[in-house]
Amino acid sequence: MLTHEQNELLTRVEGDAPMGALLREYWIPACRSATIEADGAPFRVRLFGEDFVAFRITDGRVGFIQEACPHRCASLALGRNEENGLRCIFHGWKFNVEGKCIDAPTEPAGQRTIFAERVPVRSHPTHEAGGIIWVYMGKQATPPRFPDYEFTQLPEGHVQPTRGIIRTNWLQGLEALLDSAHVGFLHSANLGSITGRTLFKDEAEYMLSDGAPEFEFIDQPYGFREGAIRREGGMNYARIREVSLPFFSFIPAAPGGPAIVCCSIPIDDVTTAQWYIAYDPHRPLERDMMSAYGNTSGDPDFFNSDMGGPETMWHQDRAAMKAGHWSGIVGRGNAYEDFVVQESMGPIVDRSKEFLGTCDKVIYRARRLLLTAIERFQETGERSFAGPEVDYGRIRAISFACAPDQDWREIDAFDPPAIAAE
Ligand code: FES
Ligand SMILES: [Fe+2]
Repeated sequence: MLTHEQNELLTRVEGDAPMGALLREYWIPACRSATIEADGAPFRVRLFGEDFVAFRITDGRVGFIQEACPHRCASLALGRNEENGLRCIFHGWKFNVEGKCIDAPTEPAGQRTIFAERVPVRSHPTHEAGGIIWVYMGKQATPPRFPDYEFTQLPEGHVQPTRGIIRTNWLQGLEALLDSAHVGFLHSANLGSITGRTLFKDEAEYMLSDGAPEFEFIDQPYGFREGAIRREGGMNYARIREVSLPFFSFIPAAPGGPAIVCCSIPIDDVTTAQWYIAYDPHRPLERDMMSAYGNTSGDPDFFNSDMGGPETMWHQDRAAMKAGHWSGIVGRGNAYEDFVVQESMGPIVDRSKEFLGTCDKVIYRARRLLLTAIERFQETGERSFAGPEVDYGRIRAISFACAPDQDWREIDAFDPPAIAAE
């Protein structure tokens, strides 16, 4: 349980809010690389309550600038993207990827260049990796080190990033990603045999057999590692997740399948981009993972655009529930089920009204780490979870079955035991 003040501190991200200021000091996923083509349509991106456009110019470089034209605020999402710049369709002013005005054809020819140089344009540095355009929106003159997670280093084809959008605060998104206690309940229809659809057959048996696994944690410089241990049939089944704060939760791969990393990125105080990034270090992904996971809208930039809302009770199917389907969110993936419960909590959940249990250890831990990070940032200007000792490329989640006397802490996710289901 948090006080009202702590809740406000953790959740608010717009304007000068302390959490927003801290989160902007990290590299942030803004849009998929594939969404913006060279000389193609600019893509609207809203982050931390501000509106931007991402665009790829003729030579392939990417710009990320304010959506409102600095002249009289026409949307640059309407702009002409050609000859290495984005030109406003209202009066023809043109902007490059560095966020400079490079032409203002409505000004007298003699003073056009000098005038253009004085036009203020809000822009942010970008970095392209893992099929994603990342932006740095913080205040440092030089952006921080890029978090070169394993998925950002893989060849094209090994990674499929997709983005959902939910009408809730970012922390609701993050907390749902961290909370593995709900998997055997909320997602039980997707795990079990009721629909005949089995994503993780063996793992599902373990998860369904024990709704109260033991959670153990190891502190890490980037956040923490969580082991969910279930004991069954003389074996221990361990799911090891990696939490790289403030945004990322790495989920173990299903046997033979791709791994998933998720993150929760603030669009504004009450809207969140929730990314599901499937990746396989060993082989290219052959299937469209968005559809494979039951996200059927067909739009990888908003894969849950068809999930409905409170007015339709998110298309919950009561007849299916009577027939045995747990959530009634039928024919959809786990992400839809997560999104529905997140939205059902309201735009910014009042955490002073909660009653936490043993299964919420991870939630409690993450909140405490984030509150400490805000305090540290306010006092010293230093970002937590991103020190030089963090080896982003070695962060990998894993699940495996092992003998009861095997300590899961000793398992190296990059060199797992033979029976591991990596
Ligand atoms: S509003 Fe964009 S050039 Fe005038
Ligand atoms: Fe979930």
